[in-house]
Amino acid sequence: MNAITIAPVSSAAQWRSLVADFGSPLMVIDCARMLQQYQQLCEALPGVKHYFAIKALPHLSVLQTLAQAGAGFDLASSGEINLLRQVAVSPRQTLYTHPIKRDSDIRSALRFGCTTFVVDSPQEMEKFLPYRQRVALLLRLSFPNPSSSINLSRKFGCSPKQVPLLLKLSQRMGVTVKGLSFHAGSQCTNPDNHVCAILTCAGLMHDSARYLNGRGLGVLNIGGGFPVSYIDEVPSIHAFCSKIRTALTALPDHVQVISEPGRYLAAPAATSVSSVMGIALRQGCCWYYLDDGLYGSFSGQLYDYRRYPLTVFSDQRERESAVLSGPTCDSIDVIAEDIQLPRLAMGDLVIGHQMGAYTIASATDFNLFPRARDVVLNPPGETGINFSL
Ligand SMILES: Cc1ncc(COP(=O)(O)O)c(C=O)c1O
Repeated sequence: MNAITIAPVSSAAQWRSLVADFGSPLMVIDCARMLQQYQQLCEALPGVKHYFAIKALPHLSVLQTLAQAGAGFDLASSGEINLLRQVAVSPRQTLYTHPIKRDSDIRSALRFGCTTFVVDSPQEMEKFLPYRQRVALLLRLSFPNPSSSINLSRKFGCSPKQVPLLLKLSQRMGVTVKGLSFHAGSQCTNPDNHVCAILTCAGLMHDSARYLNGRGLGVLNIGGGFPVSYIDEVPSIHAFCSKIRTALTALPDHVQVISEPGRYLAAPAATSVSSVMGIALRQGCCWYYLDDGLYGSFSGQLYDYRRYPLTVFSDQRERESAVLSGPTCDSIDVIAEDIQLPRLAMGDLVIGHQMGAYTIASATDFNLFPRARDVVLNPPGETGINFSL
C-alpha cells in the first residue's frame, strides 16, 4: 500500500510553479540532497571508499555531484561507461562490478581506464587471460539475504568454499585477484546480512596468503544494500552501520574496505510530480488517470517491489474511495487502489517521494507517453535552480 498524505492546497505552490515552468510529469532531482546522503554514509562508515552504483540513477548531474565530492563509481555496462565519460573523474576511481562480461565490455572498460573487475567463476576469470598484465580482480561471493527486499546473491556469486580453488586457479593463470566482494541484498533492513558476510570474508582473507604465495588479499567490497525509509521506517544509517563497523575490525589490518551504494544515495534525492489528466467514476470508485505511471517513473513498483509515499493537495475534509492510475492502456498500470482521497480535479498534482533509486532508471516509453522530464535542483558548480524542496 502507498502511504498517502493529504496536504493543504497552499503547500502545492512550489510544485505548481515547477509544472508551470517545465510541464508535467517531472522528476525533480536535488543534487544537494544527494550530497547530504553521501556525506552521511561517509560519516557512518569512516575509512570506507564509496563507489556509486550508477544503475540506481544514471543521471549526469548526479554523477558530477558525486565526482566533485570524491566518490568513485561502480560500472556495470559499456553504456554506464559512456555516461561517465562525460564527467571529470579519474578511471582509477571506478570498478567494473558486473560479474558477467563480454569481451567487448572488458575492452571498453580498459579503454576507459578501469582496471578493477569483479568475477565469480572460472569461466569469467579466463576472460581476463589476454589482459592479465593490466587488471586486478575481486571475487564475488554469494551469501543468504534474508533481510533484504531484493536478493542479489541468487544470480551471482560463488560460495565461500570455492574461494581457495579460485585463488589457486588465478595463480595458475597469472591473473591477479586483489580482494573479495559481496552484495548483502538491496534495501537490507538488518545489518546482520552484512555482518555475517564480512566475518566469513575476514576468515577467508586471513587464510588467503596460503593460496597466493604469501600475498594476502587486500580489498573487501561490502556492496550496497543500505536502506532508506519508504512506507516503513528503517534504522538511521548511523545505527545501521554500527554493527558493520564492529565487524570490519575482524579484517586483517591492511585491508582496504570499499562499498557500492546505489539506493541510499539516490532514493531521497528525487521527487516525482504528476498531474491528473482524466477522471472517471466506476462502480462507486473515483479513478484518477495520471500522466505518469508504472511504465514510467513508478516502474520501481514492479521491478524494485517498492511502494512510494505520495502527497496530494486538498482543503476538503471528505474522503471517498479512489484509484490512482498511470496513463497507458494497460490495466496493470495502476499506482494505488483501495485508497481514500478527497475529490481531485483535472490538473491536480500527485507528488511521489523517495523516488530517486531504480525509478526513471527502469522507465519505458510504452504507448509512447513521454517519460518524466528531469529538473535538477542545486546542480554542482553551476548556476541553476538553487532551492531545496
Ligand atoms: C553489483 C551491485 N552493486 C551495487 C548495487 C547497489 O545496491 P543498493 O542500491 O542496494 O545500494 C547493486 C544493485 O543492484 C548491484 O547489483
